[in-house]
Amino acid sequence: MAIKFGRPIEMRDTPRRDATLSAPSLDLAIRPRRNRKAEWARRMVRENVLTTNDLIWPLFVSDGQNKRNPVASMPGVERLSVDQAVREAERAMQLDIPCIALFPYTDPSLRDDHGSEAVNADNLVCQSVRAIKKEFPDLGVLCDVALDPYTSHGHDGLLEDGRILNDATVAVLVRQAVVQAEAGCDVIAPSDMMDGRIGAIREALDAAGFLDVQIMSYAAKYASAFYGPFRDAVGSAKTLTGDKRTSQMDCSNSDEALREVELDIAEGADMVMVKPGMPYLDILQRVKETFSMPTFVYQVSGEYAMLMAAINNGWLDGERAIMESLTAFKRAGADGILTYFAPQAAERLKKNT
Ligand code: PBG
Repeated sequence: MAIKFGRPIEMRDTPRRDATLSAPSLDLAIRPRRNRKAEWARRMVRENVLTTNDLIWPLFVSDGQNKRNPVASMPGVERLSVDQAVREAERAMQLDIPCIALFPYTDPSLRDDHGSEAVNADNLVCQSVRAIKKEFPDLGVLCDVALDPYTSHGHDGLLEDGRILNDATVAVLVRQAVVQAEAGCDVIAPSDMMDGRIGAIREALDAAGFLDVQIMSYAAKYASAFYGPFRDAVGSAKTLTGDKRTSQMDCSNSDEALREVELDIAEGADMVMVKPGMPYLDILQRVKETFSMPTFVYQVSGEYAMLMAAINNGWLDGERAIMESLTAFKRAGADGILTYFAPQAAERLKKNT
């Protein structure tokens, strides 16, 4: 269905000479509405345009064969067995989506205190990367680096007496990143917010010969209520003890985001990310303006869930709300967007051409 822009408001609405109207003329020389008078005119002055190049599509992978399990809090999103993830990768190729992001639902029996499954070269993510890159070598594959889908306590790092051990965690993250690069991952995306992990991962990737593997750092990642549905999807919602406020940022802060981003760039990040998206457009704009780096934003699971809940109730026009939310990221300065709406948006954009 095409996005409707309403009945074109032609100049007929506004007779050429206001003097012919009985209503008094404002005698305006400057009328900003002129540039909005028709779709062709609006297209001429459009400042920001969303294209399929801007989309990164996150997928959830799980065990089994030919399986698709819906994620209850994310209507329309499913956990996919590896073979089905390959089919979605094919869809991404057909839709011109440049890159997908992979997240695992790890079987609870494989989760432990140390998140050891994260460094298993044959874990779900590594299996998926190999299967996808084998069939579609030209599709970008991004992998998250963090321990939460693998730990029995649901935290991104190693815990001791309820506290996250920064440096010990970084040592594991480094191994996780190398294992993913060995499987064929193109972009390593550390989402854990440990201090110093970008530098350590860069060094390890280079030492292992992965000079071209990029790092997209979740540089300004906030401790957010909007990650709830994602934690359902990867199965860490029920197991998570406490919250992540000792590593992820306080939503009250803005300057701190710039310090975080600056550090990650200095340590070797090729691209930086702000997360969540819509409640943090101000941060996105500051980061892009300050550093002029390739800057990404994650429209997270809670944003998806909110929009879908309203759309499924008939309270919002889905297509328009989705495209507006994505265009807003472009306007704020995003070079790309991780979004669960990637296939819908790509399909909509295809119809434009
Ligand atoms: C894991 C991770 C999270 C998300 C991406 N990577 C959750 C968290 O930090 O708890 C959230 C993505 C989303 O909500 O869509 N560290």
